[in-house]
Formats: sequence, C-alpha cells, structure tokens
Amino acid sequence: MLSHIKDILKEAEEKKYAVGAFNVHNLESILAVAQTAQELKSPVIIQVSEGAVDYMGLKPLTHIVTTVAKNIAKDVPVALHLDHGKSFDVVIECINAGFTSVHIDASHLPFDENVALTKQVVEFAHEKGVWVQGEVGAIMGGHGDVGGRIEDVPLADPKEVLEFVNQAGVDTIAAAVGTAHGSFTNEDIHFDLLKEIKEKVKKPFILHGGSGVPDEDIKKAIEYGVNVINIGTDIKVAFTSKLKETCKNNPDETDPRNLLRPCIGAVKEIVAIKMKLFGSVNRI
Ligand code: G3H
Ligand code: ZN
Repeated sequence: MLSHIKDILKEAEEKKYAVGAFNVHNLESILAVAQTAQELKSPVIIQVSEGAVDYMGLKPLTHIVTTVAKNIAKDVPVALHLDHGKSFDVVIECINAGFTSVHIDASHLPFDENVALTKQVVEFAHEKGVWVQGEVGAIMGGHGDVGGRIEDVPLADPKEVLEFVNQAGVDTIAAAVGTAHGSFTNEDIHFDLLKEIKEKVKKPFILHGGSGVPDEDIKKAIEYGVNVINIGTDIKVAFTSKLKETCKNNPDETDPRNLLRPCIGAVKEIVAIKMKLFGSVNRI
C-alpha cells in the first residue's frame, strides 16, 4: 500500500532497523521490489532518479508504482521517493504528482546556496505534507560504477550538517560519511563521524551509496542509527548481468518476456538479501 515515508521511518526508528530505498528503472524492477516486500513482509521505499523519471515518464511511473503498491505490495507500506533531484522544477513536479518525499541534492553548490535552494523546496513541500531530504557533502562516484578503488572521498563536516538542517528545515538528512555511489573496494564508513552527526542532528539519516559496503559495516551503521539505506548499483548489476546471460543463452528468443522474466528474479534475489541484512523483514 502506498504510505507516507514518515510513518515508515517512525516505525523503523522505534524498532531499530533500516529500510531499503531501492532505485528502480523500469516495470520489471518495480515489480521485483514490490513482490519481495510483500513476500518478506517488509516496508520499502521505491525511489527514482531524474534519469528514471525521464525514461519512464513521471505520470506513467507514478501510476505504475501506485497501482503496484496497491495490488502487489498490498499488505506492506511502500513510499515513493525522488532520489537526487537536482532541478527545482523536477522536484516540484514530483511533489505535485503524489510523491511522499523528495531529495533535493544541491550538495554541489556552496553551503549558502545549498541552504537557499533546499529551503525553497521545503517551503513548497511542507505546504503539501511532503517530506524533504537534504544533502551536505557531495557523495562521490556514479550509480552503476563497479570495481576498483575510489579516490578522494570527501567527508561532511558535522557542524555544517547541523547548521544546514537548522537553516533549511529538512526532514531527513544525507551526508558524506565515507560511502560512494557505485561499488568499490574501499568504501569505509567513518563511524565516529556518523555517530557525531546522529548525536547532533536529531533527524532520520539516509545512507547513500549502499552498494559495495561490507555487510558488517552496514549492520554497524544501523546500530549507529542509520534509518534508510540506498541501493542502486546492485540492482542495475543484478538486472543487466542476468539480461546479458539470458540473451547469450537464448539467441533465438523473440519474446521479450522470456528474456526479462529472469531479470525480475535476479533483482528480487538482491532485494531480499538487502532487506534481511537491514532487519526490515517480518515487520508487518
Ligand atoms: O542515491 C542512490 C544511492 O545512493 C545508490 O548508491 O549505487 O552505491 O547503491 P549505490
Ligand atoms: Zn545517492
């Protein structure tokens, strides 16, 4: 069922588990996330990037997620969230379309400009009861990048994070604590930094760059108070690896459904692994 992210996060905070925010790209990945949530009795956040909005179209994707939440993930809460919204216009369109939360990522701008743009979104969103995620300290890497080491991972300044939250009035916060978008061998969470931010900022913390982070670190991050973990690259890799393998093994197949059905299964497998790791299963 489509739900507000605030209700999902309230429950997660009280019971000390994290909720997966899974990046979806098409009908198949939406189905995979929704089916897994329903089967494992887990709350879930379905999130889309601006690229996914552009690919699927805002109205079709909003209607698909709404219908899938109502009919497939019918017994579990599902939030629809915009991830890394960069443009004010897209963020506003998503709010008007019925998203219950949006991420305005102005972390690449100087601090004051980040605050100003985020605050502008907060003012519009709160009028409509929509939650806003802000970001401080840009999170490096690229969704879908895989392998090797990532260099010069910047870290957020906790004082700046607190100042940002107070000035911009966001509901949830993302900050650079050592993870990166993509999957790299040196994604080390700086736990002292995470602890300091959590102590200073009394808001739900969103961990970006969840792919590539060792399981033990994910578990520790949840103990340190991470409430949402974003998973993008692992979904892309599961889908495309299975698609390539299926196409290779079935060169004469002409029915797209026979090539895509195994991809749904592959995405379901990775989503299930993450939901179990995050502790969100059997919560409904
Ligand atoms: O915003 C999306 C996430 O931060 C995804 O990161 O591709 O490393 O899983 P990831
Ligand atoms: Zn991210």
